[in-house]
Formats: sequence, C-alpha cells, structure tokens
Amino acid sequence: MCGIIGYTGYSQALPILLDGLSKLEYRGYDSAGISVFSKDQTHTTYRSAGKLHELKRLTERSKATGVSGLGHTRWATHGEANTINAHPHSDTYGNLSVVHNGIVENYLDLKQELTNKGHLFNSDTDSETIPHLIEHYMKNGASFEEATEKGASRIKGANAVVVMCNDQPDKIVAFRTGNAGGVIIGYGTNEMLVASDIPAILGYTNTISHLLPGELAILEPNSVEFKDRDGNSIEKEKTVLANDPISLAKGDYRHFMLKEICEQPNAIIASLMGRLSSEEGLFSSDDLNLTVKEIKKISKIMLAGMGTSLHAAMLARLWMERIAGIPSEWDNSSEFRYREPILDKNSLFISVSQSGETADTLAAMEEVKSKNISQITLCNYLNTQASRIADQTLQIRAGLEVGVAATKTFTCSLVTLYALAIYFGLQKETIEKNEAAKLIEELTRLPEMIGKILTNQSQYQKLASIYHNSSDFLFLGRGYNYPVALEGALKLKEVSYIHAEGYPAGEMKHGPISLIDESMPVVAMIPKDALYEKMLNTVNEAKSRGAIVIAIASESDDEIEQKVDHVIRVPDVSDSLSPIVNSVPLQLISYYFAVRRGCDVDQPRNLAKSVTVE
Ligand code: AGP
Repeated sequence: MCGIIGYTGYSQALPILLDGLSKLEYRGYDSAGISVFSKDQTHTTYRSAGKLHELKRLTERSKATGVSGLGHTRWATHGEANTINAHPHSDTYGNLSVVHNGIVENYLDLKQELTNKGHLFNSDTDSETIPHLIEHYMKNGASFEEATEKGASRIKGANAVVVMCNDQPDKIVAFRTGNAGGVIIGYGTNEMLVASDIPAILGYTNTISHLLPGELAILEPNSVEFKDRDGNSIEKEKTVLANDPISLAKGDYRHFMLKEICEQPNAIIASLMGRLSSEEGLFSSDDLNLTVKEIKKISKIMLAGMGTSLHAAMLARLWMERIAGIPSEWDNSSEFRYREPILDKNSLFISVSQSGETADTLAAMEEVKSKNISQITLCNYLNTQASRIADQTLQIRAGLEVGVAATKTFTCSLVTLYALAIYFGLQKETIEKNEAAKLIEELTRLPEMIGKILTNQSQYQKLASIYHNSSDFLFLGRGYNYPVALEGALKLKEVSYIHAEGYPAGEMKHGPISLIDESMPVVAMIPKDALYEKMLNTVNEAKSRGAIVIAIASESDDEIEQKVDHVIRVPDVSDSLSPIVNSVPLQLISYYFAVRRGCDVDQPRNLAKSVTVE
C-alpha cells in the first residue's frame, strides 16, 4: 500500500526521491516524507500530512543537499494520517531513518519492551518500533547492518522496510518479512536504488532484482550484497525489464482514470496479441504451459480475487462453465483462505490480481500451494509477488494503470479469461471449432466496439449534471451482467462517494425494491439477450414505484426508449461478451459523476492502488 524509494549514488538525492514518490503516489497518499543524508553524517527529514505536493512545497523552502536518502508515501494503518505519523521514522537520538510498508504485528509488545528500556516514541505507528529496535541492538555493540538483521528477525507479520543511518550515509539496508508489497533493487551506473514498485526507478535503470520474503539487501553506490533469512550471502538473479510503453503522463487527459478508460481498445489488443492466432487454439506454450492431457483432467476451477478482480473472477466462472464445461466457483480471496474449500488434485486455482500484490490474494494462493494444487495467476506484469507463488502467470498486458480505480486492467483481465475459457473448451472439446472461431472473431472486434462507446461521452456528462446530487444508486443486471452491476456500483462508490448497490435483477422483489423511490436512480443492463424480457419486467416494476431508470441497451433495441428515462447505447454483441462491452459505460458514469462532484478521481479518499496489508 505505501510507496517506498531509496537512492544512493553521486547525484543529488532530493529530486530523485521526489520524482520516485510522484510515481508511487497511487500506492498511498495520506502523507509523505523524505530523509536526505549528507556526507557529514547528518540527515534532514521532511514530513507532511496530505498529498505529495505538500511535501514538495516543504522541500522547496530549504533544499537539503546529499547524495543518498529515502522516501515514503503513506496509506495509514496504525495512527492517524498526520505529520507525526508520516514516515520516515527515527530512533531516540535521530541517528536512523526508516520507511516501512506492512504491519508490525507484534508492535505493542516491542514498543513496551523498548519503552521499558528508555526509548522515547513520538508517533502512534507500528513502524516506529523498527528504528528503536535497530537502535537497541546498535547500543549493544552491533554494527548498523547486524542491528538491522537482528531487528528484522524480531518483527512479526508481512513487512517491507528500508533503513539508513547517519554513521554510514551512503549505505541503505532493505529487508522483507512476509508478503507485504515488493522490494525492488535497481542497478544504476554508479548508483543503486530500492523501491516498492518498478515505475519509481524506471527513469534510472531497467535492471532489477526482487527481494524475497526473509531476504535483506545492503546497497552502496557501486555494490549490493544480498543475504537470506539466516544471514548467509546469496546471489540474486538480475532481470532486465522490457521496454514497456509505460507513460506516467496524463497527456491531454484531465485524469489518469479517463486516460485509462480511453486506452482500453489498445490495451485489449495488447492483451490478445498472439493469443488468438494459433491453429491449435489461442495460447502458446511459453504463454501458458498446460498440456492437452492436463487441461482434460481439470475437474474444477476455483477463482479468487478482491474488488474489481473478484468481479472478473465471477464472470470467468460463467465462461468456464458455459464455454469450457468445467464446474467452477469463485470466492473473495479473503474469505477463501479462512474456509475449507473442497479441492481435489485435479482442481485448478485461478487468482486474479492486476498488481499481483494484494495481500489477501497472496495468502489464498499460499493456502492453495500448501495443498499442492495447480494454480495460474493473472497479473498486469510478470515477476509480481503472485507470479512467484503461482505455477504460471498469464500477463494481462494492460500497461501501467495509475488511477486507483481499476478500468483497463478489468477489461484486459476479462478478455484474457474469456480467451482462456475458449482455449480450455477447445482442448476439452466442449466447444466446436467453428463455434470457437465465431467467439474469437467477435473478440477481435471488441476494441472497435469499445472505441465506438468512447466516442459519445457528452451523454455521461449530461447524466452527471442531472443526478450528481443523488445519494444512492442501484445497478441491476442478470446472468453475465450481474457481476458487471456489482462492478458498476463499486466504481461509483469508489470515485464519486455515492452509495451504490449492485444486485442480480431477480433479487429486487426479495427486499431491495423497498428502497426504490424517485430519488434513487437505477442503472439497468438490458442487453438483447435471453433474459431481456425478464430484465424489462424488473425495470417496469421499478418504474411503477417511481424509479428513474438509466438503461444500458443494445443499438438494435427500438422499444427501450419508451420504457426508461435515459438510454445509453452499446453495440449489439453476443450474450457472453456483453459484460465486457457494458462495463465501459459504467466506468464513464462513475468518472463523470466523480468529476461533477469535484472528487479526487485518481486518488479517492481512504484508498490505495494495491492493498498489501490484510
Ligand atoms: C478497483 O477499482 C479497486 N481499486 C480494487 O477493488 C482492486 O480491484 C482490488 O484491490 C484488487 O486489486 P488487485 O487486482 O491489484 O489484486
């Protein structure tokens, strides 16, 4: 959740740290801070509550000079989001500077122990126990590195930590305990970097190593030493990142969210590239390495994810059942890990996590791994933490998504899962080749269909201008469009702070219809599919009770206009692809409502892009 950056080299550290933080702000934006170390064995720390621009303003007043330092952008877990709780944290005498992502589960015990020894704490955070613990070991004769290693071994929970010390200002020590966010070591020329996420260091290097849980790294401008959890020196593989067309610029767009919504046609093309061409069907063996025999043996698919990725998993269940003929189930990763799911050795677990960092999903994956069940993970990038747990990673290739609201990563996860269902169906022979060819042909037209939806955005602005003061919304869909209704409601809540619920339309009469009156707009997905008449019945029932109905309807539907208050048209498409098409107008509704309400679209309150704590 929090963003971390560290630099040691020969250039001025302050601008590099600020630049890194600006690329990590989507990970947390409650407060931010930086420490810059100078050769005379002192450091200057700036901390400020609020967004990064507050910190930037602070650093402009007195620019600290120094060629090493660390920085942090916070998503608060323990202690209010104020300046005192902002990172970096220090020890009693201000010798150390520490930035942290995760939760020190035993911090109360540690704090008590250290307070009894005379340590003075300033903040309410769990993080502050870390510098005090290291200070304690240094006071007892350990070197900075030894003390950090000892400190790391005392900390319980999943944590990523970067530490610096006045005594050795060009040295950075970073360590991980458990699966809390990544720690990436970047190899520059006469400089080394450490960060929680790749974008922060991409401008300086594309050669990286990943720190695994239990590992520690000691960085100096021209070297790095890695140690395992027993303190033994280890070699680590270097990965050279491909030239990804990552752009952190908003270009002509006012917000990343709108840019990313509009990028969907191209992102989907990238997602499907090379996955629709093979004669045998879709995925090549270096993309997905499952033999026909292995696919034929799959007895059940269990899908899991959180938030938007869970909605993708819910849709994938329908495709896996209807197209591939494989019994499938879904669950929230956070629920899955605490129940006792019945999975046999021929089950396949599929996790969906664009970041590959979501703590609950990683924990569910570990649970599956411990049962020796085969698993695939869908992530936006290879080499995520999820990739290291799963047997295989299917990259959704959406390109970097900066807006906290998942948009293009949702549709790219969906097309990847859809193609996977067709692939499984072909291998299991639950779908005829000509039927699969039709589905694939339609899938190739999806970018064009979405492009068309994106051309008429004034209708969403108009809806927002009429209904932006509504305090509640309902989203209704059936079949394939039920998960989309949930996603529409999540998106609206997340970015515009309007209370919204998504329901399967058939559920209305069993309670939720009592909510309906003229102040509650209802967004109904009414594609011309097998459930069309049934959706219309629900809409009529809602209209009879005064509801305002906004329909997402097929272009060819010439009756709908008379039955609802507003119609948003989408291209005619098969039942199974309609949820992908319909999700785009819902993203635009959320976006334009949020803008009209003056919300911080890309960084909604209380949220962070990747949820790396439980
Ligand atoms: C979606 O708009 C949210 N930001 C959130 O629900 C997100 O989808 C969820 O936290 C899962 O993230 P992941 O895909 O990175 O695992």
